[in-house]
Amino acid sequence: MTYATIARDHLPALLARMPKAELHIHIEGSLEPELIFALAEKNGITLSYPNVEALRAAYAFTDLQSFLDLYYAGASVLIDEDDFYRMSMAYFARAHADHIVHAELFFDPQTHTERGVPMGAVIEGLARACADAKAQYGISASLILCFLRHLSEESAFDTLEAALPYRAHFIGVGLDSGERGNPPEKFSRVFAKCRALGLRIVAHAGEEGPPAYIESALDVLQVERIDHGVRCSEDTKLVQRLAATRMPLTVCPLSNVKLCVFKTMQEHNLATLLHAGLCITINSDDPAYFGGYLLTNFKAVFEALPQLNAQDAWQLARNSIDASFAPEADKECWRAALDQVFVDRALANA
Ligand code: ADE
Ligand code: ZN
Repeated sequence: MTYATIARDHLPALLARMPKAELHIHIEGSLEPELIFALAEKNGITLSYPNVEALRAAYAFTDLQSFLDLYYAGASVLIDEDDFYRMSMAYFARAHADHIVHAELFFDPQTHTERGVPMGAVIEGLARACADAKAQYGISASLILCFLRHLSEESAFDTLEAALPYRAHFIGVGLDSGERGNPPEKFSRVFAKCRALGLRIVAHAGEEGPPAYIESALDVLQVERIDHGVRCSEDTKLVQRLAATRMPLTVCPLSNVKLCVFKTMQEHNLATLLHAGLCITINSDDPAYFGGYLLTNFKAVFEALPQLNAQDAWQLARNSIDASFAPEADKECWRAALDQVFVDRALANA
């Protein structure tokens, strides 16, 4: 069945109702200014902004680094296990409202352990929230530990070692933070070790960095998904490779516009890549900083790109399920639920 003929007026309701997986969300990037101030007060931390409004007003970024400076400062209010739990539960409430059925949460342990926060407080708080997300909302959630690429590979090895006692609580590893000058191959040995441990492998590449970083994420780190990857369009052969292998790209549209990767949403290459056969997914990245959670990202994209139709909406949701690391039996249930939403709409139209 094709859904291309469903009228565009129905898109907002379909985007809201369709079951979705979110595969690229930095949980520290879901810290809203209100919670930053509440946790700062609780933990006796003085922030360099007088109030919520002043902090939010500072969210005018020129590039990735200008954002990361604020993002790491915001994360400094997280001190104990319950802080990590509260942050994550606030995200899951929003995820539930957006009809997210599965979420894979990135977390940045080095941001916290470097401040003296124990690894156990970080991972146990996040893991408790993942369990409660399932119990309270029926959301399946898992954790992906990210190494900060502006730090050394040695620091990544230390982080991995400190996290291994909590191995049962995370499914994979990723690579994030400032991309320029920090190519994937800087972390070749630690990712080899992670692969040997049976961890799932992803990495940010081609957000601000060149297409060559996407290639080394594929060839050296042997990633199973590329986070962002939008700069692949500068290399035709690479685009063909990504399409032929159906390598998932976790694209973050509002993030890309906020961090000036694209000047406007109208200029975003997501529709072009999707129509070229790439396995594109839509994600929120750091929703508290970039103007919206997953559904807001979907709506912004469909408003700005008129070449996208209901078939594309179905494909994007389907890609998110297919590209997730969830068990196959769960994926089958979500695929069936997704099809039902679109079949119901198509039949109501007929
Ligand atoms: N950490 C949080 N958000 C990020 C992004 N968009 N790119 C790289 N590192 C990040
Ligand atoms: Zn990211």
